[in-house]
Amino acid sequence: VHIADLLRRPAEIIGADSKASHPTIPLPADLYRPQRENSHGIEFGERAALDSLTSAIAAERKAAPGAVDIATAEQASAAVAAARRGFKAWNDMPAARRAAILDKAADLLEQRRAHFIALLQSEGGKTLDDALSEVREATDFCRYYAALGQKLFGEAEAMPGPTGESNVLALRGRGAFVAISPWNFPLAIFLGQVTAALMAGNAVLAKPAEQTPRIAAEAVALLYEAGVPASALHLVQGDGAIGALLVGHPAISGVVFTGSTDVARSINRTLAAKDGPIVPLIAETGGINAMLVDATALPEQVADDVVTSAFRSAGQRCSALRLLFVQDDVADRMIEMIAGAARELKIGDPAEPSTHIGPVIDAEAKQRLDAHIARMKREARVHLAGDAPAGNFVAPHIFELATAGQLTEEVFGPILHVVRYRAERLSEVLAAIEATGFGLTLGIHSRIDDTIEEVIDRLQVGNIYVNRNMIGAVVGVQPFGGSGLSGTGPKAGGPHYLARFTTEQTVTINT
Ligand code: SER
Repeated sequence: VHIADLLRRPAEIIGADSKASHPTIPLPADLYRPQRENSHGIEFGERAALDSLTSAIAAERKAAPGAVDIATAEQASAAVAAARRGFKAWNDMPAARRAAILDKAADLLEQRRAHFIALLQSEGGKTLDDALSEVREATDFCRYYAALGQKLFGEAEAMPGPTGESNVLALRGRGAFVAISPWNFPLAIFLGQVTAALMAGNAVLAKPAEQTPRIAAEAVALLYEAGVPASALHLVQGDGAIGALLVGHPAISGVVFTGSTDVARSINRTLAAKDGPIVPLIAETGGINAMLVDATALPEQVADDVVTSAFRSAGQRCSALRLLFVQDDVADRMIEMIAGAARELKIGDPAEPSTHIGPVIDAEAKQRLDAHIARMKREARVHLAGDAPAGNFVAPHIFELATAGQLTEEVFGPILHVVRYRAERLSEVLAAIEATGFGLTLGIHSRIDDTIEEVIDRLQVGNIYVNRNMIGAVVGVQPFGGSGLSGTGPKAGGPHYLARFTTEQTVTINT
């Protein structure tokens, strides 16, 4: 499929139901089908059921569990040894059985979604839309990796035998895999990493973010209930020091990490400095994600998509829009419309269903964002600077910069930076995006096919969204992950992800 063809004749090329299926996914639709509108809030039909869901969530909130145990260094070390012992039996289990366990976990998640939504709201500060989407995404990860894993690990693949020998290639688990996950998707990314590593035959040491330990504890309990043996999955709660201890342990066989670029670098250094086997790292980090809006874009759609991309989830998505480039002819009008739409957003209690923006994760995050806002008020033109309620809340802000280079790091909150550009200087805009060094998400709003093609062709960005918002990648449909400072690839929720958790074995038999 060529991008140019997609731009001109989408329905004909990829089918009328293009949002629900994708031609390159190597799975028959009956094996895996993502839930529609995965990360875009509540579906139309479900609005009717919202009342019963919200009362179920309120009941679950009262039953929220208590504190979790933080692992000591000795316990973390003992968990690695136990994972090594548990590995063989789990890796020897037929892939279809491992897949059935993950499918069962997906069923349990669906049955208990009110409970997990309540947890995501109380511990993660998620709004109803975000929490519901996250439970769906977690469910999709379980089902997608189960379906993909059966295909990849079911049988060894026969290779050609031109010399008269029989050759087969098998994918097998590597050993004890460390999974270090972030607080911003404490259920979906946590379960995405863990189920991928498990499906590939690994025993897993799961180290969730210290801000969201209870969600992780409940997710692990659910996997045990679904049939994952305790010997194959070990939850190690703690801060960065415990994560570093796991990564530095000589007996681990792989690391999957989602979080900051700095921590990914430090994991890489630790792995490189260790004696023993060479251990791979799969890292998904951040981005200074840009969107380009030219004079042919539809203003109402741009306003809607920019507000969704920059401010929903309080800007706490690694995919979120940080840097908006607007063609100067339309910039005043676009900025005014975006600011107008952002003023309509309701900030406050995430348990209240009408809330659009909940709190940022903790007081430290709020302090960092407030310091950035104070700096921007001195150095940039202010287009929007609202007040937030007391607590860890940050209102949406819009600042106009003279040059993109004024933004030197990822700012993980509801703060949008705008830069105007002249149409004939598009190439300088693309150079500025490249100069960030990141390559996670990119948005383009334009009706000019040549511009869209030029941007896609030039930029090495993992996920590009044309004429829509740029968050909420759907598992199995929009494989997610970036390059450069944004990570190592491969893409979560994509067809090449599971293979990176394995080791390959070729067997040649002279018959
Ligand atoms: N997977 C999430 C998204 O696409 C990432 O943060 O928004």
